[in-house]
Amino acid sequence: MSLDFDHGEFRRLLHQAADTVADIYESPDQAHVFEPRHPDSMRRLFDEELPRRPGDASDLIERFRSEVIPTSTLAINPNFYGYVISAGNQMGVVSALLHAGANICNAKWDLSSGAAEIERTVIRWIAEFIGCSPNTGGVLTTGGTMANLTCLHVARKIKANPDAPPADQLDPSRMKFYASNEVHSSVESSLDMMGMSSNQLRCIGTHADFRIDCDALEDQILSDIEAGHLPLCIVGSAGSTNTGAVDDLDRLASLASEYGLWFHVDAAYGGPAAGTTIARGLFAGIEKADSITLDPHKWLYLPVETGCALVRNPRHLEQAFSLKPDYLRRQASPNEYEPLDWYARTFQFTRDAKAVRVWMTFLAHGADAIREEIDNNIQSMRYLGALLAGAPDFELLAPVALSTVCFRYVPQGYDPEGLDELNRVLLDAVEKDGRVFVPGTRVHGMVSFRACTINHRHTKEHVERLMAVVRELGERVSLAR
Ligand SMILES: Cc1ncc(COP(=O)(O)O)c(C=O)c1O
Repeated sequence: MSLDFDHGEFRRLLHQAADTVADIYESPDQAHVFEPRHPDSMRRLFDEELPRRPGDASDLIERFRSEVIPTSTLAINPNFYGYVISAGNQMGVVSALLHAGANICNAKWDLSSGAAEIERTVIRWIAEFIGCSPNTGGVLTTGGTMANLTCLHVARKIKANPDAPPADQLDPSRMKFYASNEVHSSVESSLDMMGMSSNQLRCIGTHADFRIDCDALEDQILSDIEAGHLPLCIVGSAGSTNTGAVDDLDRLASLASEYGLWFHVDAAYGGPAAGTTIARGLFAGIEKADSITLDPHKWLYLPVETGCALVRNPRHLEQAFSLKPDYLRRQASPNEYEPLDWYARTFQFTRDAKAVRVWMTFLAHGADAIREEIDNNIQSMRYLGALLAGAPDFELLAPVALSTVCFRYVPQGYDPEGLDELNRVLLDAVEKDGRVFVPGTRVHGMVSFRACTINHRHTKEHVERLMAVVRELGERVSLAR
């Protein structure tokens, strides 16, 4: 029995799948972006026996339409303000179908020389987009977490020189990494994966605007040197997840250079804003970083699982991933040319040709249109910040640097504990209501809404709607108490 369909049937299924996707995008601005569901009912929906017999493929596509789409909280909806998730530009969607459909494996030159060259080109484009040298190296990853792991691994490999004679090697247990206490958790988990203990990441305090306190950082580096530790790497945040704060990258670059540390910037979220006139100034110094994490699946509007690790000196990336087993080396005419093998620049071997969707997105729209959408997102969220700051019943809890706004509802007559409890109840009410999706966080220890948009379908009207919904439910919740 074949796992292939009759060719006509395959074509029909592809069309049915394409229609299903097109229907989703017909009206992304759905009235309800979130539907609460109980885990038991979801479990009952999908808790199935391993099927032994064939099912009907067309029915399965229908099942996806009726059971998977409605139970997903889609970031394509401009009323989605959760986490940092892309709105999936349509060229990215189409190109994902093309390269996934052809099942291209972009691991080795002899498997995909076209995709290999495309990846080289888009790395250069991403670097140029944010004002870095076009000679920057890098590799596409599944996301920011993998990009941080990749860059921190490169940092350790290059700085610690593990291939040197034992006497010249650094003792890994004495290495120290530095970041603000607002840094994304993937930095800590990457160090954990690399065998570092939690006290090897020095979490430095921030100013009231959530940017790292560079003086405190320098003091910590000096006291670590004094104590015989090995300061190895500074991680700057360029668009922190919680508030969107961008550290003083120029000062961090100077400190890294002064004390001989690797300088990594986690710009997974904020990086693309360095390519806009409105926000470029915040990112001064990013071009001096030894490595940068930047997620095209965030603010370059690519579909999920498109991350990127940039490494200023491409040789460093190659040195850090130098394992080439016999079964992967080119045996035929080995000296004829140096193949561009992407597996030799990352942890992964089998990897999809995600570069194709970045390439097609840039080619279809042009960099200027993407810059304009980022600009719009920043402007509409700064507008929200201004509305909240001017409203007597709301409080803005952090400056709006990029497109993240942290705020709470503050009607009169509540003490600090009462406000925390009220906002907790209100977050729950907003979630259950489902017209907007805005998960919460804590800012300065206070329960806060955290609204982030990186959606090119988002406008200032959506912001007004968000505020109106929270206010309407806020009034209802506070009256009921
Ligand atoms: C600043 C920052 N770094 C890293 C990550 C992790 O990226 P990913 O979710 O793509 O693994 C995120 C995710 O939101 C982030 O905001």
